[in-house]
Amino acid sequence: MSADHEIDNLLHEERHFAPSSEFAQNAIAQANLYEEAASDRLGFWADQAKRLHWHKPFTKTLDWSNAPFAKWFHDGELNVSYNCLDRHVEAGNGDRVAIFFEGEPGDTREITYAELTREVKKAANVLTQMGIKAGDRVAIYLPMIPEAVIAMQAVARIGAIHSVVFGGFSADSLSSRIDDAQAKLVITADGGYRKGKASALKPAVDEALAGDKCPSVQNVLVVKRTNQDVNWVEGRDVDWNMALAEASDEHEAQAFNAEHPLFILYTSGTTGKPKGILHTSGGYLTQASYTHRNVFDLHPENDIYWCTADVGWITGHSYVAYGPLANGATQVMYEGTPETPDWGRWWSIVQKYGVTILYTAPTAIRSFMKMGSSIPAQYNLSTIRVLGSVGEPINPEAWMWYRKVIGGGKAPIVDTWWQTETGAIMVSPLPGVTTLKPGSAQVPLPGISAKILDDDGNELGRGHAGLLVLTEPWPSMLRGIWGDSERFKETYWSRFEGMYFAGDGAKWDEEGDLWLLGRVDDVMNVSGHRLSTAEIESALVSHPYVAEAAVVGAKDETTGQAVVAFVILRQSQVEAAGDADHVSKALRDHVAKEIGPIAKPRTIMVVAELPKTRSGKIMRRLLRDVAEDRPIGDVTTLADTSVMDIISGKVAAGAND
Ligand code: PRX
Repeated sequence: MSADHEIDNLLHEERHFAPSSEFAQNAIAQANLYEEAASDRLGFWADQAKRLHWHKPFTKTLDWSNAPFAKWFHDGELNVSYNCLDRHVEAGNGDRVAIFFEGEPGDTREITYAELTREVKKAANVLTQMGIKAGDRVAIYLPMIPEAVIAMQAVARIGAIHSVVFGGFSADSLSSRIDDAQAKLVITADGGYRKGKASALKPAVDEALAGDKCPSVQNVLVVKRTNQDVNWVEGRDVDWNMALAEASDEHEAQAFNAEHPLFILYTSGTTGKPKGILHTSGGYLTQASYTHRNVFDLHPENDIYWCTADVGWITGHSYVAYGPLANGATQVMYEGTPETPDWGRWWSIVQKYGVTILYTAPTAIRSFMKMGSSIPAQYNLSTIRVLGSVGEPINPEAWMWYRKVIGGGKAPIVDTWWQTETGAIMVSPLPGVTTLKPGSAQVPLPGISAKILDDDGNELGRGHAGLLVLTEPWPSMLRGIWGDSERFKETYWSRFEGMYFAGDGAKWDEEGDLWLLGRVDDVMNVSGHRLSTAEIESALVSHPYVAEAAVVGAKDETTGQAVVAFVILRQSQVEAAGDADHVSKALRDHVAKEIGPIAKPRTIMVVAELPKTRSGKIMRRLLRDVAEDRPIGDVTTLADTSVMDIISGKVAAGAND
């Protein structure tokens, strides 16, 4: 079946699920939100912002005079950490559990808001003693343990800027991110537990800082999680546990301007160099909190919320570290992988804590589907009342399975479209309001304006596929790319005058619901993680075997897309490279070292030529046809039309998984 056919089938989805009247009655979000926001968009956002505590109230909502650099609530002052912690304790909710932590080996911790506030205050004092000041950058490279949230909150509390790097990135990736942000401090751990083993993190930090690589770093703060032996650099490394034990738990949160930077988060773009996406304080927290409350229908006194994302991604920022805490939610945090010790682990956690709201990614749902419904059926999942999906389009089959098997046939599913750059959810149903349609992210949230345009910028109506743009600024929008304002303007704001270009294809269906159709640029989406073709190609050509490389994202049943690499070997290396298996292993290991295991190609194909246009541009579309095992499309613009015959012949003979 061709991709177009699949899209057409999706758009004729006829199953509709209206909210139950019981759910609708008790729902946080009501239909009038849409009208409220439409009649006075800025007034609506100002009202949402007022749900936070402002040390100095704002009087101005938006300054867009220096577009695309927005300022939201910019004469106001607040402290992000105070909003997430102290104010709940002061309101009498100090005994409410903030985090139920479940370690992979089965160890647990229950941390109340009062305890979390104390820990963050201690950590803030430690950071200050180490010389970290407002505006300084702190890199965080930690497993999914409470210290990750404590570290982020502590950095935010003193007005410093965190840059969390996912633990699955290699030493090289870590090093370039630390260097780009000129971080003064790295917060890491000896290791964390993954797949039943202690997996080390500290050695990657040591390697990232080795020699003169990151001269900006003065200290490394090390959490002891696994107690494995680690190398210790005297004078540089500091034991987190000891430092916190000695620190005072008194710390008054200072107010910072609403536009004070909160964090940088690196994400892959269309070039080889990741972009440091910059977010600021007041607008970010406003939208993270507003969306978390309305999209997940959060009733903080009763709900047990669990977002399975790692803090190394934007979802772990907005919907683990900030949104839920700003709303005084009780959340579950799990360290390990879904299959440890077996595929029932997540469901045993849902049962144990009585999880009511679960937010995860389609790739995980498809993996569980593959393992069979009999596994979740062994657990009591009846507490679940809202399900969320994020990271890539959810196919209707997975949607139906999720609702039936995990959601007891009744939990609404919110398919949430957003990006690292948007900071918070932008398009999603509202549970209790929206009639759900499997596979569609449905409509822009109240306060958000989106359009679909053709290549020339003409607005498309229902039934036409085009490019998704956001037409009005929103509070949690990125404020720039760290150190590269030109790239910020060029990447997001140059394609269509005055509008944010998201990089996604999309279509309104006949009923006015939005369907996301995947990236339209050279960004891949593997298991909901963003990877750049250019970044992996540049890793491949840095290996001595490789003369040229082209990478494409091919459709994959479980991971959504998979990385498929086509490589031309250097003539002088053909003998050393040996057979296809050897080449494949060497190159996959090399990519893991250069970028991280998440970027390893699933398949490497050694080819003699790459399909190029007369101007030398690689025609990835044709390589995608090969990788997805389809008939090859139109080759007329190729410089040499016989190349595709050679590649497809070679692939049939030498493909390896
Ligand atoms: O292509 C879209 C896809 O993920 C991209 C953003 O990736 P990242 O910045 O890593 O953030 C992921 C988590 C927010 C988008 O450009 N994407 C994300 N959510 C969805 C989605 N595609 C379709 N449906 C979604 N719900």
